[in-house]
Amino acid sequence: MIHRSGTLDGVGGYAAAGRYSGGGFSAGASQWWVDRFSGSSAPYANVSYPILPYLCRALQWLFSPEGNASSLGFKGFKDKVVADVGTNDGRYVPVFMNLGAADVWGIDPLHETLQGAVNKGLLKPERALAKTLESSVADLAGKIDVATVFNSQLDRDFDVVAKSLWDVVVPGGQLVFTFAERIRRDRTLPALASHFEGSSVSLSGNSIDRPHEFLYVGTRKANPS
Ligand SMILES: C[S@@+](CC[C@H](N)C(=O)[O-])C[C@H]1O[C@@H](n2cnc3c(N)ncnc32)[C@H](O)[C@@H]1O
Repeated sequence: MIHRSGTLDGVGGYAAAGRYSGGGFSAGASQWWVDRFSGSSAPYANVSYPILPYLCRALQWLFSPEGNASSLGFKGFKDKVVADVGTNDGRYVPVFMNLGAADVWGIDPLHETLQGAVNKGLLKPERALAKTLESSVADLAGKIDVATVFNSQLDRDFDVVAKSLWDVVVPGGQLVFTFAERIRRDRTLPALASHFEGSSVSLSGNSIDRPHEFLYVGTRKANPS
């Protein structure tokens, strides 16, 4: 059963145990980011999104040891604990698992959509956080080897998000962003640069990668600069 208070409830009793307490939609700038993501992600909420299998295959290659990500210093998902920020319906969780991830957390304030990922068995209930990344820091701090933000549509709050990502990723851990548009990448990377050492590449040339046109891979700095 889903409640609109920012929690997933009745999922294996975890909510009753306080697992999903708090979080949700705080007013102000963070809410704005949620609105932007949610509004523009509407076409992707459809689980029958027809090119999804091709996207999954393209991403699986991209993050394989032979793929472009490794040329940016990505060390892979094998045996890693992953936080998929903005996981939506969990569509890319199988990609991480196929590449050997040890565990995957899904973070997304879209309650019903996230519940769908749990119902389909893509996410364990105790790994589904129905709130924003910024509200999930206490749940995730020091647990995450790799954070992914796929098809990011972040337009502001860059510093808050970069700090939240830095807080949840373990020392030496990595961050992966994909962007559909150059302007989003260019607005986001300066904030990431103060918390992560990284670089980006254009993936154009493969139309299948469209929502993942630009790839960024970063490694957590010991101290933010
Ligand atoms: C453009 S969609 C991308 C979904 C998926 N990652 C993909 O590549 O298809 C962005 C997702 O981020 C979620 N989102 C928005 N703000 C967020 C936040 N502050 N923390 C975590 N997720 C957020 C939205 O609800 C939405 O599902």
